[in-house]
Amino acid sequence: MTTLNHTDASLLPAWKALETHQLAMQAYSMRDAFAEDPQRFAKYSLQHEGLLLDFSKNLLTEQTLELLQDLAQQTGVKAAIQQMFSGEPINGSEQRPALHTALRRPIGDRLEVNGQDIIPEIHQVLQRITELVGKIHNGLWRGYTEKAITDVVNIGIGGSFLGPQLVSEALLPYAQQGVRCHFLANIDGSEFHELSQQIQAETTLFVISSKSFSTLETLKNAETARSWYFAQGGCPDKLDRHFIAVSSNTQAAEQFGIASANVFPVWDWVGGRYSLWSAIGLPIALSIGIANFKELLAGAWDMDQHFQSAPFKQNMPMLMALLGIWYGNFWGAQSQAILPYDHYLRNFTQHLQQLDMESNGKQVRQDGAQLNYQSGPVIWGGVGCNGQHAYHQLLHQGTLLIPADFIVPIVSYNPIGDHHQWLYANCLSQSQALMQGKTLEEATAELQAAGYSTAAVTAIAPHKVIPGNRPSNTLVLERVSPRNLGALIALYEHKVFVQSVIWGTNAFDQWGVELGKVLGHEVYQQLIGSHSAAAELDPSTQGLIQFFRQRHRG
Ligand code: F6P
Repeated sequence: MTTLNHTDASLLPAWKALETHQLAMQAYSMRDAFAEDPQRFAKYSLQHEGLLLDFSKNLLTEQTLELLQDLAQQTGVKAAIQQMFSGEPINGSEQRPALHTALRRPIGDRLEVNGQDIIPEIHQVLQRITELVGKIHNGLWRGYTEKAITDVVNIGIGGSFLGPQLVSEALLPYAQQGVRCHFLANIDGSEFHELSQQIQAETTLFVISSKSFSTLETLKNAETARSWYFAQGGCPDKLDRHFIAVSSNTQAAEQFGIASANVFPVWDWVGGRYSLWSAIGLPIALSIGIANFKELLAGAWDMDQHFQSAPFKQNMPMLMALLGIWYGNFWGAQSQAILPYDHYLRNFTQHLQQLDMESNGKQVRQDGAQLNYQSGPVIWGGVGCNGQHAYHQLLHQGTLLIPADFIVPIVSYNPIGDHHQWLYANCLSQSQALMQGKTLEEATAELQAAGYSTAAVTAIAPHKVIPGNRPSNTLVLERVSPRNLGALIALYEHKVFVQSVIWGTNAFDQWGVELGKVLGHEVYQQLIGSHSAAAELDPSTQGLIQFFRQRHRG
């Protein structure tokens, strides 16, 4: 089993001290803290390469930081970081390392796993990706009618979809001419139908992206794509010009009909939600070109080094992880809002949902003992300003404490008029409003100044009170470049990891998704009236099956 932290964090002195400290912080006011200390922003913000983290709008004092640092120390975070980077089997329940960081290492580095240096193989695969991308971009990869490929369809779900989709869409300003990337994830036939209207079989390359090559949605879509290819007149003996795979299950990919030379490997030490840096990132490289893909890797590697070496108070992933623990475990926050103010980052929240919730949605420690404290929060949110006109009301006046991360670039790729200044201003004003709020006195004065009667002022003022004191981080990117985006994604990967170490959980397995998959097969058998259906389903599920069978036509 893994050597990672197995202790019950809540028994540690730092945890107890944080509980006491939280009680002492009940009356803490960020508004007052800013008024008293003009240096607060300078004190509680830091820059690294193209990123700035402002964490000054948090419920924190120097003592909070000290105690959180103690918690990290007492749970062995520093050692755990080194264990992850050096390839120890920190994924205890699957008995393997978690080595997504190895995918970002420069050529010439060494890293042994089971006595073998894995870096050369990683770079060989990168070289194969480079060659494939070159052939497609230069029109040398031809379809069955000898026409060049114009469209690439990534068929994959979860980590074989969200990361590649996020990055290729976030880096659209870097997209190469000539090839369009599409993503097919859901088993819902409507998704395939809509996509098939946009592509031609003779100029389309399907990338079947599945680490396991056993994921229902992906296999179903892959079969449908293959049938569609034939129905469109696709040549059976030229299938290898139109179907390639990324998988660690080469055998299954070949059984599907993928030529062995067309299978790009992923390794079992890369988790799906951490795999965009591997050949799973093929659509990214196809979309933005190999030089930009390497920049993405370099940005992540740069964050890896920062994470390993920066002292606690200047360590971005560490600070963000500990602030998350502070609110979740000591202030009762159950969710975390992720609010990117950038159209190109509109899928960032979705990627983080899988990254964070599949990693930290755990209820036992690495040693199997039940947690007696909260683990990962619900991650939600979406692009600003849109969210301001939807759910920010709850952030400002709802009864829940929801810490928020605002993410915004300085430079817009499309500086139309003063749109970007307005976007940036809105982002800042939201975090300011959350922190500052509006008191009853201020609301009253505002209404009086607007000429309301005394009775109206009394009636309306309470509705205008905004409690404030609501925490947020602001991450400012110089621009959404491949390098900065690589660093940003790696930052969150490490944040999630630090939290799992403190809770003593395994961030790299996902057993919780398995039961639904198994039950799905049984329900399907009963839905189609198969005689192999054996399990006794609960009355609710049976009722819903019967309802479907009675009403469904065709
Ligand atoms: O069902 C969850 C999951 O296993 C994710 O962890 C993974 O990213 C996704 O399914 C897809 O898996 P695969 O790449 O093996 O098809």
